[in-house]
Amino acid sequence: MRIKKTDFIKSAVVINDYPETTEIEFAFIGRSNVGKSSLINSLTNRRNLARTSKTPGRTQLINFFDVNEDFYFVDLPGYGFAKVPEAVKKNWGKIIADYLNSDREKIVFLLLDIRRVPSAEDIEMLKWLEHYSINYYIIFTKTDKLSNNQKFKQLKEIKKKLEFDNKDVFFYSALKNTGREELEEFIFDEREK
Ligand code: GTP
Ligand code: MG
Repeated sequence: MRIKKTDFIKSAVVINDYPETTEIEFAFIGRSNVGKSSLINSLTNRRNLARTSKTPGRTQLINFFDVNEDFYFVDLPGYGFAKVPEAVKKNWGKIIADYLNSDREKIVFLLLDIRRVPSAEDIEMLKWLEHYSINYYIIFTKTDKLSNNQKFKQLKEIKKKLEFDNKDVFFYSALKNTGREELEEFIFDEREK
């Protein structure tokens, strides 16, 4: 593993509270419950670095994690959780938009549950990332829940809704740590560019 040391640095809402950096950072975004925090824990080989929950909407702040005292992972609040008041939803939207629009050098991983057809919010998020020319990649999560055959079928369904290039896609199971090496290698390649 190339991730040797990780630390929770801080939670932030507004840009002024983000920790300073001059390095590229890697942000994880996706609907609530898609597995952002679980993926960060798997990737860093830490059980409880990022808080996970069966209750969607757990992470309501931007959480910054330091990797090897070198660069950050950024855990963004999940969108699309129906059971919250409209005002809270709006606020989350602003927190996410402010981060994405910030001039920090970043790569965004958009997480999508392999079992689900992308929601209207997922599609909106993807369009948004493209519109603002943000460097992004898709990670399909919870791949342990489907057989290879089911995965193949599901990807076909997803492609009817979302256009993506196969080369820009990762597959991940935080439960089994599948896809970890590949993602880690990608991250360090980008870091070293
Ligand atoms: P918010 O913080 O609410 O936005 O959610 P999140 O995207 O951070 O999701 P989180 O990591 O908390 O995971 C949500 C639920 O999905 C938890 O019950 C996890 O155990 C489960 N989960 C996450 N990743 C995987 C996976 O790869 N496989 C399986 N089987 N379950 C997973
Ligand atoms: Mg979370």
